[in-house]
Amino acid sequence: MKKSKTLFFCQNCGQQSPKWLGRCPACGEWNRFVEEEIRDTDTARPSDVRFDGVPQSIETITADEGERLRTGIAELDRVLGGGIVAGSAILVGGDPGIGKSTLLLQVLEKLAGRGLPVLYVSGEESARQIKLRGKRLGASAKDLLILVEVELENILKRIQEIKPAAVVIDSIQTVYTPVLSSAPGSVGQVRETSARLILLAKQTGIPVFLVGHVTKDGSIAGPKVLEHMVDTVLYFEGDSGHAYRIIRGIKNRFGPTHEIGVFEMRDTGLAEVANPSAFFLAERPEGAAGSVVVPSMEGTRPILIEVQSLVGSTSFGMPRRTAIGVDHNRVSLLTAVMDKICGIHLGGSDIFLNVAGGVKVDETAIDLGIVSAMASSFLNRPIANGTVVFGEVGLTGEIRGISQTEVRIKEASRMGFTRCILPRTRNRENKQRLNIELIPIGSLAELTENLF
Ligand code: TYD
Ligand code: MG
Repeated sequence: MKKSKTLFFCQNCGQQSPKWLGRCPACGEWNRFVEEEIRDTDTARPSDVRFDGVPQSIETITADEGERLRTGIAELDRVLGGGIVAGSAILVGGDPGIGKSTLLLQVLEKLAGRGLPVLYVSGEESARQIKLRGKRLGASAKDLLILVEVELENILKRIQEIKPAAVVIDSIQTVYTPVLSSAPGSVGQVRETSARLILLAKQTGIPVFLVGHVTKDGSIAGPKVLEHMVDTVLYFEGDSGHAYRIIRGIKNRFGPTHEIGVFEMRDTGLAEVANPSAFFLAERPEGAAGSVVVPSMEGTRPILIEVQSLVGSTSFGMPRRTAIGVDHNRVSLLTAVMDKICGIHLGGSDIFLNVAGGVKVDETAIDLGIVSAMASSFLNRPIANGTVVFGEVGLTGEIRGISQTEVRIKEASRMGFTRCILPRTRNRENKQRLNIELIPIGSLAELTENLF
């Protein structure tokens, strides 16, 4: 008998090493290496992996996308690119308690309600607990099957027997195969079990949702190791202290990425928020200094968000800089530009920046919003009523054009805004005759005269 070999795996990214390391050289996380047993290569490949390895001309390959399976939850369908593609593997990640199980049970209930048999595999909750949750959600369809199981081989067998229209594995970190000796939730187990499930999805055309917890503690493998294996990666954003939940598509082989779906957690489950702009602006203070509205593109959809800033003189020698929802480095860069171009010296001030509603914005169109919010707070002057701003700010203080200007203007107008400060890139007339005044500016120096 061969001696079993062990290697150390980073539980966050899957990096392997022959000895224990304190810090993962690949992902930089500390204290994530765990020893796992590895098999010799003969048995490493599951026996049911079989591809017909014959090269074919791309011209002759037939590939029609087929009918996408609509979940009936419009916000989710959009993030998925129009529905579930047959045979796709979808990873749904997020903090514990954020609503992953709730959403997926709702999805399955919708499908089962249309007479499609679906399977919900849970390794975390008992059938009774799922039933209790289902009661709150109104889930009672007879085609919604619940399987409480953690052993991979049995799960695969049941899927093949039932041939459901969709499967949810809640969560992948509880699924376990005795082929590997490592503990459930370790990188080896998560990799192997999801690979087998994804393979089954590809062979049978049954779409599989894999739920993955994101945890900071080192005991279970993070979904990061799965991201490259699945077709679609959806992450829940928003904190469990608030009612809103945002689902963001991080990767999608069959649709657009960075699309978001907005939900609200109610006592009857997750409800769609059809008008997110109104939702994010609901608590905006009127006429307060330091608050500004920016039309931001989230995927293909414009959403109005509020950027808030508080600038005050520092009480310590070192000014504090805190940015939530926007890139920290971007804020430092913009303060430097403001200092040089607008003569607004923030060097000795504490700066706090926040995007209201917990949204994360990573497009540069928000630059002008950040500058406006900081200027407004610093000068203690509220921004003129009904104003939105957007545009990228360059290092010399020039305002650069950004994509999808028209859509943003239209959304601002729809939400009742009457002034829009935007980049002066091309000659832009108010083509659609919207009820909004366009104020193009070419440099940051022109900002303050138009802002208040
Ligand atoms: P859950 O879906 O169990 O989270 P996850 O699977 O991501 O760990 O969500 C649990 C939270 O959602 C819990 O804090 C209670 C709340 N909740 C509601 O507010 N309303 C509901 O109808 C349900 C089912 C859950
Ligand atoms: Mg859960």
